[in-house]
Order: sequence, then structure tokens, then C-alpha cells
Amino acid sequence: MGSVWLIASGKGGVGKSTLCASLAAALSRQGAGVCIVDADIGLRSQDALLGVEDRVVYDLMDVARKGCAVRQALVSLPNEDNVSLMAASQFARAKDLEPKAFTRVIRELRGEFGFVLIDAPAGIERNLRILTQCEPDETVCVLTPDDVCLRDAARLCEVFADRKLPTPRVIVNRLQEDLIRLGEMRGAQACADRLGLRLLGEVPEDPSVYRAQLNRIRLTDIDCEARRAVERIAGRMRGREIPLPRYGAGKLSWWKRRRLRSLKEV
Ligand SMILES: Nc1ncnc2c1ncn2[C@@H]1O[C@H](COP(=O)(O)OP(=O)(O)OP(=O)(O)O)[C@@H](O)[C@H]1O
Ligand SMILES: [Mg+2]
Repeated sequence: MGSVWLIASGKGGVGKSTLCASLAAALSRQGAGVCIVDADIGLRSQDALLGVEDRVVYDLMDVARKGCAVRQALVSLPNEDNVSLMAASQFARAKDLEPKAFTRVIRELRGEFGFVLIDAPAGIERNLRILTQCEPDETVCVLTPDDVCLRDAARLCEVFADRKLPTPRVIVNRLQEDLIRLGEMRGAQACADRLGLRLLGEVPEDPSVYRAQLNRIRLTDIDCEARRAVERIAGRMRGREIPLPRYGAGKLSWWKRRRLRSLKEV
């Protein structure tokens, strides 16, 4: 039986879908079979991120309404045999997804794949609450290191606790080493400590993420820092002990400090 990971965030736009897609590729290259379930009903993104928009025929809603079999709605990725996608419906509304039907779909996928990654919609409203009934083995809270995001993440954790879900682990995304060293941005561990949660991983701000999406290349095909961060997280998801890189832990060289200070004065 595979493990089901619910990847969520309080605040939107923090990088859940990007990380989900990249983690799936990294896990598959480490030998695992992965299914991504795009659960952002009405605002799907995984088909575009994975470059398979034209391959989607059936979606999650078709399966949940028993109109088609799970297998029919699974889209395989070119050059990535071990990753499948179940797309979200672009036109349905979240309220039309029956929690019991969603749970049934996830149960079936759990029997077929080593990892089922559920890309959740942002927030704590009904469209997230529907998903919380599917009995995930692990929950992940993705956040960026700012105050609003931390506050929203704390609210998300309360919802998970109310629903008796596993305590989330944290991925802190878009860390900027220089700002952390200047004391102007929280480091990943400081974010996790503030929430009282365990850190699953930290990912730096990296222009390669945008470039990869623009050019429709997988992040795992580029040699960049974000890719290495994602691969470390995938390893930890597979139960391996991989040390955290602690972005921003070292000292700034005097000339970099001076350059950043001068930028601040502008
Ligand atoms: N580490 C990173 N470095 C640079 N840009 C990033 C990084 N992670 C994500 N991004 C960018 O952030 C934007 C939002 O990412 P994404 O759509 O994955 O967020 P999301 O949490 O899924 O959003 P939503 O809440 O709307 O579903 C994208 O343009 C993506 O390229
Ligand atoms: Mg998303």
C-alpha cells in the first residue's frame, strides 16, 4: 500500500503545485511510482505544469461521480513512466465533490502507487475540508517565510488538528540566503519552530523554477539549487535521513554585506 500525502497551505501562491510536480519527478527518479491528484477544483494547474494539457480527457470529478474508472482518468507523462496525473476538473465547483467519493478514489490510488500526492487548494475553507476526510498518511504545510504566511499556516494546522489529521511537516519555500544572513528574513528552522512543527525541507528562491516552467522543462532536468532541495525532500519522504542545508546559516562576506546595505539605501 502506498502513502498518501496531502500538500496544503494556508496562504495561496506559496509553491504547492510547483513543489508537488517537482517532488513527483524526483520520487519517480528515486524508483517510486507516483500519482499526483490535482484537487484544486476549478483552478487546476498540474496539467499545465506537467505539460500534458492536451492529454486530459477525464478528470477527478468524472471518477468521483462514477462516470469513469480511475485508470481511464490517469494521464501518463512523457519521459516519466512512473508518474501519473489525475487532473482536477476545470469547470466543476469544489462543493460538487462528495467527500466520500473523493476518499474512495484516493483509496483506490493508494493500492496502485507508492506515493499519492494531493495538490490541495489554498486556504481552510470547504474545498480543503472535503479533502481532509481521505485519511492521508502525511500532511505537509508549504509556506514562505513571511508573517502573513506563518499566521495562515497556524490556522491550517488548527484545522488539521480539529480533523485529527497527522501533524503537518513544513516545507519553507522561496528562502533568500542573503536576506536571512542580514537578519531580514526568517530561516526555515525559525519558521518551523514558530509553528512548533517539524521541518521536512527548505527550498531557496531560484529563478530556474520560473525558467523551467516557461520553457516547459522539468525542474529535475536542470542543474540548480531548487532541484537539489527538492531531491533532498523526496529522499526524506522515502524515509531517508538527509541533513538540512540551512540556507542562510553562514556569514555574508564583507563586500556582499556592503553591496546589500547600499541597495537598501536606494
Ligand atoms: N523556489 C521558488 N523560486 C522561485 N519561484 C518559485 C519557487 N517556488 C514557486 N515559485 C513560483 O511561485 C509561483 C506560484 O507557485 P505555485 O502555483 O506552485 O503556488 P501554489 O501554492 O500552488 O498556488 P495556489 O495557492 O494558487 O494553488 C509560480 O510562478 C512559481 O514559478
Ligand atoms: Mg496550486
